Amino acid sequence: MCGIVAYIGKQPAFPVILKGLKRLEYRGYDSSGIALFGDMVNTFKKKGRVAELEAWDEEIISEATVGIGHTRWATHGEPSDANAHPHSSNSGRLTLVHNGIIENYASLKQELVQKGYTFKSKTDTEVLVNFIEDIQINNNSTLEEAMRIALKRVVGAYVIIVMEEGFPNRLIAARKGSPLVIGVGEGEHFLASDASPIIEYTKKVIYVNDYELAIITPDEIILKNLGNETITPYIQQLDMELAQIEKGGFDHFMLKEIFDQPGSLTDCLRGRLDMENLTLTLAGVEEHMSVFSQAKRIIIVACGTSWHAGLVAEYMIETLCRIPVEVEYASEFRYRNPVVGEGDVLIAISQSGETADTLVAIEKAKEAGAFIFGVVNAVGSSIARLSHSGAYTHAGPEIGVASTKAFTAQLTVLAMMAIKIGREKKTITEAEYNRYLAELALIPEKVKAVLETHESIKEVAKHYADARDFLFLGRGYNFPVALEGALKLKEISYIHAEGYPAAEMKHGPIALVDENLPVLFIATKDAYYEKIVSNIQEIKARKGMVIAVISEGDTLIRGMADHVMVVPEVDELLAPLVSVIPTQILSYYIGVLRGLDVDKPRNLAKSVTVE
Ligand code: F6R
Repeated sequence: MCGIVAYIGKQPAFPVILKGLKRLEYRGYDSSGIALFGDMVNTFKKKGRVAELEAWDEEIISEATVGIGHTRWATHGEPSDANAHPHSSNSGRLTLVHNGIIENYASLKQELVQKGYTFKSKTDTEVLVNFIEDIQINNNSTLEEAMRIALKRVVGAYVIIVMEEGFPNRLIAARKGSPLVIGVGEGEHFLASDASPIIEYTKKVIYVNDYELAIITPDEIILKNLGNETITPYIQQLDMELAQIEKGGFDHFMLKEIFDQPGSLTDCLRGRLDMENLTLTLAGVEEHMSVFSQAKRIIIVACGTSWHAGLVAEYMIETLCRIPVEVEYASEFRYRNPVVGEGDVLIAISQSGETADTLVAIEKAKEAGAFIFGVVNAVGSSIARLSHSGAYTHAGPEIGVASTKAFTAQLTVLAMMAIKIGREKKTITEAEYNRYLAELALIPEKVKAVLETHESIKEVAKHYADARDFLFLGRGYNFPVALEGALKLKEISYIHAEGYPAAEMKHGPIALVDENLPVLFIATKDAYYEKIVSNIQEIKARKGMVIAVISEGDTLIRGMADHVMVVPEVDELLAPLVSVIPTQILSYYIGVLRGLDVDKPRNLAKSVTVE
């Protein structure tokens, strides 16, 4: 949550920071602000989108070659000009941007108020900047020393970047729990919450670790820990292209990312699935195969869409590997004293690799002795680094706030894991193994075939764009797809939507059914087909409107449903990979028809780095 960008170097800082903040708007878009170092520090901040900052005074912005910027997802204090970052200390000497939450801000604020400090905003960040200043004054110390002392007392998560009057050629940043990347240039440096604001200037980056401080000038980066020991920075080469983070002719990132899927799934399979030799290479699993094959059970933790991928994985792993699987919301797992320890494998699924609840759930399980395997999209992210082993999903950057291509890539990695472990344990036959591999190889083409039907899905969307409620139903592997379809629709269109296992409908939700309720069935050909046909009849008997995702050639459900969206036939284990696609497209078009900003739905942020 919240995006931060900073620049120090030789070019005008404002355009670099402004463009970077626009790229990070997916992390929050309640307000934004920039502080620039000219003769003095000048700050401009506004409620609303980053574009509001374009109204800033030309004269101020043309001069400065050093600055910090922020785009906010509100936690403490409503979205307003006053609560927008950057925040300055009472004396005006320090100005900072912050991503994260200072949990003990109330007690720190109380201390500061007693000493006479005043506050213009309701934020924890303004407390932090004054807390640092207070330490600096009391100890007569440098900013760097004061930050070290302050950060030892601060409880919570943060990345901060601080500017100090009188030191126009230096920024100091620190991190704990929120992400920070430094772009290494020639006579210039870039700082950001992720690499997207940096990519067009340099591909050399440093991922700052927790409890590290970076002292940055145009020519130098000094990394230290909170104990004041210098650390040698590890410079990595970015594996990302500018085109990946641009819309590429699509109206929205969400649509682009939906259409990216044949390519992103091919990338996910590349180097892993080899149809010539009938092999599946997943180094992170192979290196620890005995851990998996001897696991007493597997616990999956995740949030949101990634949690839905975990539910599909439960079906896959239990079916193919005969290992008991529990799927947990990371936010519940971390607080409920879970029974976890040696012999357990914990799979953490996360697109961003920065979700706070998932991170803490991992830490807990790791402390208790569990083996941690990360299924992560963002390379170098905190979850990837905290895991004992893992597999990247290689979906490429996902900018639209609603997760689409990350979900299908997660399913692909999880399917590969289940197939691989199942073969090792001999809980699947060689013939089954070969069949799954062949099915996997065909998935990108089948997804492409669904995308080609997008115009007809748009027509379906027109019939339901004014709906007030929606029910999504599915069984077996398609039950999590129903949950995911409902989540996608509610976040993009603000239509109330619920997902249920289709048979569970009779235990309550059926009371909602009348001629105004669209009920979307995920009803592809699988072991549950006959059952789901009966469920459709039960809805029709109560005059509900039925939309169905069906397999090619299914004339039975086509004849019963009001509208259908057709997908190619796929083995039921992999069916979610194609059956979810029409629900993504439908949500997208309904959101667009309702005139909403589908890439930035209200109240949401892409990377939930606060609990
Ligand atoms: C929904 C969505 C969220 C995320 C969730 C977890 O479209 O994007 O529900 O799936 O916030 O995020 P990650 O996967 O980054 O841990």
